[in-house]
Amino acid sequence: MVAARITVNGKEAPISPAATHTTALDFLRERGLTGTKEGCAEGECGACSVLVARPGVNKPTDWVAVNACLVPAAALDGQEVITSEGLASAGEAGTRPALHPVQEEMAVRGGSQCGYCTPGFICSMAAEYYRPDRCAHADSAESTESANSTDTVDRTDAEHGPNGFDLHALSGNLCRCTGYRPIRDAAFAVGTPTDEDLLARRREQAAPAPAATEYAQDGREFLRPSTLAEVLRLLRDRPDAVVVAGSTDWGVEVNIRSRRENCVVAIDRLPELRELRVESDYIEIGAAQTLTEIERRLDGRIPLLAELIPQFASRLIRNSATLGGNLGTGSPIGDSPPVLLALEASVVLADADGEREIPLSDYFTGYRQSVRRPGELIRAVRIPLPLSPVVAFHKIAKRRFDDISSVAVAFALDIEDGIVRKARIGLGGVAATPVRAIAVEAALEGEPWAAPTVEAAAQVLRAQGTPMDDHRASADYRSAMLGQSLLKLYARTTEAASS
Ligand code: FES
Ligand code: FES
Repeated sequence: MVAARITVNGKEAPISPAATHTTALDFLRERGLTGTKEGCAEGECGACSVLVARPGVNKPTDWVAVNACLVPAAALDGQEVITSEGLASAGEAGTRPALHPVQEEMAVRGGSQCGYCTPGFICSMAAEYYRPDRCAHADSAESTESANSTDTVDRTDAEHGPNGFDLHALSGNLCRCTGYRPIRDAAFAVGTPTDEDLLARRREQAAPAPAATEYAQDGREFLRPSTLAEVLRLLRDRPDAVVVAGSTDWGVEVNIRSRRENCVVAIDRLPELRELRVESDYIEIGAAQTLTEIERRLDGRIPLLAELIPQFASRLIRNSATLGGNLGTGSPIGDSPPVLLALEASVVLADADGEREIPLSDYFTGYRQSVRRPGELIRAVRIPLPLSPVVAFHKIAKRRFDDISSVAVAFALDIEDGIVRKARIGLGGVAATPVRAIAVEAALEGEPWAAPTVEAAAQVLRAQGTPMDDHRASADYRSAMLGQSLLKLYARTTEAASS
């Protein structure tokens, strides 16, 4: 077996003697790559952002920005990583090292003061700079402009630049001294990569295949089997093994609570967990696809998921987090369960003896508990077709993005001839587990989609669950928001009908 190593800025670096839990952030900094910073060590500030070459959605390889503070170095065995230092020297072929175009724009537009956050912003910005559909958008906007300068299509809004730059690419990066306007100016000024740009050219080649990692240090192991069958045998034989996909939850436990494991099993690159199947009566999403991959591959095919994903943490987190992980942790305030409950999703569980499919409404059994047995893992999430046409996801939180919900509500309704034929409503943050609002569904079904019905059902919705008082919100506020969310959905549908 080849010794575990990472290709960092084009040069191979052995992972040993890093511990199995050592983060990519510490690994890089110990090699002198101190542009990569630690701010929070829990995925909330983006100071640690780096680029990783991953299988692409529109090209063989995408440059994806991830939080190096959450990913163990061992999880990057065999992979290619670029830091802010590598961006500076990876520009035009055959020329002396120069600032990367993204760095150049940040410098000339005053996007950096103390500089602590800057390398992280640069890496997140560079990932967006290389995003293939942004480049296609920027090129088409430019050609429209030069073809007819009096008839230029204005594709900009507050969060998207004329160059196709999506500011949400920076939603996981915090700056505490510059202010965000010059950073936005820099983001909206970057052009498209030239033909000589080595990182742009790298996208045309396949991403590194997942390495079969058996990394051991100080009596602990980090393992990455190549097949699902191997993982399931391992989980059967090693009940102490901890399964890790994107590390967005486990990485926080490692950093903040000093959690250490004797055996970690990485499943995020298993081909069997990375499929997207569209059948006539269901869509199956592999449990280890990242939320960014799901968003880009589905491209709006499931509108309720398309409403959820932009509200799920930050782009940096979504580049690593998986649906399987969000369900596997069993959190009552996870963002995906209310949506998946409204979609009537089921969970495909696999172990060494076979598979079983469990409706998500039967999956959670208590606070962070589920029917998943030792040795079982979530292989996929199945969403039945056809989809209900009237959908909404309301996440009530203190911030619009990158926050934990106080309460979350997802609706999926069939309304025909003004009558509610079917209602499915998922709730988060109102009980020890995510729950379906069965009583509210019953209050709506068979009734006219009209103000009296909706107001009566909103009253029922306010009484769902046992919301708590805590630092995020009072129980009364949570209950009020539940009822309000149904009234908001009704107002939206009636506004749409009258416009
Ligand atoms: Fe803050 Fe990694 S150090 S996100
Ligand atoms: Fe100082 Fe951003 S430049 S924190």
